[in-house]
Amino acid sequence: MALTSEKLSERMGSQVHIDKADLLSGVHAAELRALLDQRGVLLFRDIHPDDQELRTIARTLGELRIGASKRGADGRTLNEGDEGLIKISLDANVNPDYAKFLPGNYLWHMDGTYEEVPPLATLFTPYRLSKTGGDTMFANTYAAYEDLSDEEKAQLDQLRVVHTMQAALFPVMRDVTPEDFAVWYSYPHRSHPLVWHHRSGRKSLVLSTSGAWIEGIGQSESHDMLESLMRHTTQDKYVYRHKWQLGDLVIWDNTGAMHRVLPYDRESGREFHRCTLNGEEPITSPARAMALQD
Ligand SMILES: [Fe+2]
Repeated sequence: MALTSEKLSERMGSQVHIDKADLLSGVHAAELRALLDQRGVLLFRDIHPDDQELRTIARTLGELRIGASKRGADGRTLNEGDEGLIKISLDANVNPDYAKFLPGNYLWHMDGTYEEVPPLATLFTPYRLSKTGGDTMFANTYAAYEDLSDEEKAQLDQLRVVHTMQAALFPVMRDVTPEDFAVWYSYPHRSHPLVWHHRSGRKSLVLSTSGAWIEGIGQSESHDMLESLMRHTTQDKYVYRHKWQLGDLVIWDNTGAMHRVLPYDRESGREFHRCTLNGEEPITSPARAMALQD
């Protein structure tokens, strides 16, 4: 059956109409990858994928992330869950490794900015919803870059930002223990270009709350510039806010979008299941991309 879709908002997100069997078979995988690149977020309603189906759909679109990504302060491996599937919950009984990190999801971010090659995309489906809050918001970092003036683009194309776990989590965690700091500092401080020149030729802003400072400029100028870019990129015209229904499957492009969840009741039992696709290209600056062409 042919793939049809409609925009969720003018510049972010499309709802895709496709049979579940076609989604599982991967028959439209190339079209879906292209649409994901163009629209940032893909929504499929009434899919109700179980864990194995979620993995299957993920594998039609890219390389499913499996295995250890990080060691905790106690030496245990913080892994990518059960064969590439993580349960996202604030309940430490459901998700002992990640529950303490998840409040960081209330703030605008990209996943995996501490990695050299950030994840390509995330597949996300709800198992239990909270009665209040819990909408997920997505901001289009391609569109936000495209709308900048030529002067702003030329300036930003040259800059690099250092991303830290502390910057990502400190604003939302007040009961921070020495053990928490130890875990945060065990993640590398990663420098990325502020503008990503993708292999496709398109460019996007690399913004996230994890962005601690811009290299080579003063602290207050760096702070003001990052805050100003964050305000610019999260304007309504670049944002799609998703109200979840059971059965939804949402896939977002982690390389061209930021996301955040609106706060919800910790006791609600809200639980989502997530698969992640491995990244396929490092973040390359426009200046570096030009040099590689020469
Ligand atoms: Fe996230």
